[in-house]
Amino acid sequence: VKVALIAGGATHERDISMRSAHSVAKALKAGGFKTEVLEPNHDLIPKLNELAPNLLWPMVHGGFGEDGSLQDLLELLGLPYVGARANGARLASEKPVAKTLLQREGVATPKSVTLPRKVFMQVGSEPVMAAIAQTFDFPLVVKPADGGSSLGVTCAQDANELRTALVDAFAYGETALIESFVAGREIAVSLVDFGQGVHALAPVEVETEGGPYDFQARYESGRSVFYAPARLSEAETKAVQETAVKCFEILGLRDYGRIDLLLAEDGTPWFIDANVIPGMTDMSLFPQAAEAGGDFIDVIQGIALAALAR
Ligand code: DAL
Repeated sequence: VKVALIAGGATHERDISMRSAHSVAKALKAGGFKTEVLEPNHDLIPKLNELAPNLLWPMVHGGFGEDGSLQDLLELLGLPYVGARANGARLASEKPVAKTLLQREGVATPKSVTLPRKVFMQVGSEPVMAAIAQTFDFPLVVKPADGGSSLGVTCAQDANELRTALVDAFAYGETALIESFVAGREIAVSLVDFGQGVHALAPVEVETEGGPYDFQARYESGRSVFYAPARLSEAETKAVQETAVKCFEILGLRDYGRIDLLLAEDGTPWFIDANVIPGMTDMSLFPQAAEAGGDFIDVIQGIALAALAR
């Protein structure tokens, strides 16, 4: 069975995507699958025609890998692929849209507002700061409205920091999301569906030494401590897993994914982010969750086999 992984892309997460694809390819090869890693460029369609894979596995993080564009192309070509379909990917990767949908269904998510760069430029920084200060208390978390790996995410303590945080977020996207800060433990819940319904893997807890769980803390060895499984009571584990499954289903994801939550002291899981194509590097959270409850190789092969059987 031939599986073509699509990885790379012209995004800030390009390198992570390549590393993720190689981890998945290695796990598939261990099960006797033949794999190839293809770049999402002008050559993609001729290469797919030549290779004629039985299955595609989009592994492009951020950009058009998680926003549904690549999935639209694969649908158009009539090729079977792993992961969320275009619509699910679109809903999940637009953080403001995902938050609104989930909130409507009773999932807690920090109060937020979106700010397009255009508005920030037209209205000017002072009136924008004044309007935000009227509605929100500091600290505020500022991030690009789409994109992943914590790129462009800052916790702003005051109006001065907010200004800089917005400029940082705009470096990664046209719209910034400004969220109320919620204190809690960072919990990532990975999800898989082997064709018999979605289930949550062991929650993973992240503790970052001296700073936020930003891009460096994610991928530089030693900056973060991971607990897999997370140090949670049975009731807390159940709560975060149930919330993650609910988010996965409401957003219409498929096969696998990862929901990032904050677990507040009162036991409420707050939705922070949905990952359509979660990182698969050896520092990433999905592989750690898979290993905590079994074997990453079995999980990856299970996902591929279920996608082939559909
Ligand atoms: N967006 C990256 C790859 C992650 O969160 O795993």
